[in-house]
Amino acid sequence: MIVIIDFGSQYNQLIARRVRETHVYCQIEPPSITAEQIKTLAPEGIILSGGPASIYEKGSPRVDAGIFEIGIPVLGICYGMQYMVDTLGGKVSKAPKREYGFAELQIKDAAGIFEGIEKETRCWMSHGDHIQGIPRGFRITASTPNTRVAAIENTKKSFFGLQFHPEVAHTPKGKKMLKNFLFGVCACRKSWTMKSFIRQSVDEMKDLVQDKGVILGLSGGVDSSVTALLLHRAIDKQLTCIFVDNGLLRQGEAEDVKRLFKKHFKVNLIFVRARKLFLDRLKGIEDPEKKRKIIGRTFIEAFEKEAHKLQGVKFLAQGTLYPDVIESRSAFGGPSAVIKSHHNVGGLPKKMKLKLIEPLKHLFKDEVRVLGKELGLPEELIWRQPFPGPGLAIRIISDVTQARLSILRKVDTVLLEEITAAGLYKKLWQSFAVLLPLKSVGIMGDQRTYENIVAIRAVTSLDAMTADWARLPHALLGRISNRIINEVRGVNRVAYDISSKPPSTIEWE
Ligand code: XMP
Repeated sequence: MIVIIDFGSQYNQLIARRVRETHVYCQIEPPSITAEQIKTLAPEGIILSGGPASIYEKGSPRVDAGIFEIGIPVLGICYGMQYMVDTLGGKVSKAPKREYGFAELQIKDAAGIFEGIEKETRCWMSHGDHIQGIPRGFRITASTPNTRVAAIENTKKSFFGLQFHPEVAHTPKGKKMLKNFLFGVCACRKSWTMKSFIRQSVDEMKDLVQDKGVILGLSGGVDSSVTALLLHRAIDKQLTCIFVDNGLLRQGEAEDVKRLFKKHFKVNLIFVRARKLFLDRLKGIEDPEKKRKIIGRTFIEAFEKEAHKLQGVKFLAQGTLYPDVIESRSAFGGPSAVIKSHHNVGGLPKKMKLKLIEPLKHLFKDEVRVLGKELGLPEELIWRQPFPGPGLAIRIISDVTQARLSILRKVDTVLLEEITAAGLYKKLWQSFAVLLPLKSVGIMGDQRTYENIVAIRAVTSLDAMTADWARLPHALLGRISNRIINEVRGVNRVAYDISSKPPSTIEWE
């Protein structure tokens, strides 16, 4: 495995992705980790990430200098390289000119990290500081017209520094450089596969759980579904999944979950019918945040009620993913990482005195999908678009009623059929409909109509932090609008939302 020290670069997760793509396991750790702690992880090498700080400024992040005494290779990237230079006796100072963007890299000798790479290649720079003096034992291995010290190396100790970012796609040979480091320098083996992950994590969970019970809130989304199947494989009937049907789901969704998990996978599943309870409590509520709070509270209540009926439960499983874990601890934070909890069950473990199990907490989303496939989850579920915990309630502007839910479900079904038929479902981050409480005039046959408006929202995004409205083909929009107005009673007008996030959000509420 490889340890990546997180100096706060926006590209850290990308470094980890790149390493894992080559089937080498890696873990991102804060700079507060000690050399002794790193030794217990027994990594083959260390990568020091980039970061926004300047090494010569007070309070800039530093990791235990003992890492250079462990006797394993170290690769410093950007700030990571500057930290290495500064710590080992070289000099870093402000560059006369900030450098940002493409640069032509001149490689002095195509060996080590540059093995098999042509002597002139492009790289991606993003720095305001540069190396003025390199430490003893190092030599310069590459330069750009602007940056004399673009890469350095201490062959004897296997320490490497790159001023540019090999992890980004803008450095075309970056992947090759990282591979050279992992396999050529560190002699890593390609042992990180989902099969090996399943084996290891099944063993770990068996050890941890022993003969106790585990409960899991199953939502039907990919993360909780994969968590359920993984635990099911490890501890079988000691796992109980609780699915709360809040009546705010899409057409047929609750039944699909039941069929798949109970009938097909034979998972212990408690199916809680709470539609009426949720609807009663949402009656007359227009404020989105109030809706969310009511739904969250009611969910916890329904979940707890069932959980309390079970004997011997000591653990609560959650589908927390690695990006949540990394993002929730500060780049310079200590060992007491605060981990973001799942929207829907936040607050549960504390109240119920349960220990958390988060078997996916070292995985990225695309790894979870591969894992889901390995565990036999159907494609549709693996590629399901995100769906918010409060469900359709936040897609009905104003108060939620049975009649409005029914209209929105039909619209949603038509929309998803068309998006899927057009081959766009997987390409879009989310695509859904919103029911507006406004009525507008229309004409159908010879009759005047006075009915609801729906808005269609389709966005592309990488992480939901920012999103752009999708340029859906006009013909497709036309089909969607025609079908909705013809097939769904209660709608006579369809609008397409052309706002990006920011300043709008993805959901309307
Ligand atoms: P916004 O609307 O803030 O949404 O751009 C970003 C992402 O989060 C989802 N979302 C939620 N998920 N509970 C959830 O579980 C919520 O209350 C909630 N609100 C928004 C939204 O669907 C999008 O993927």
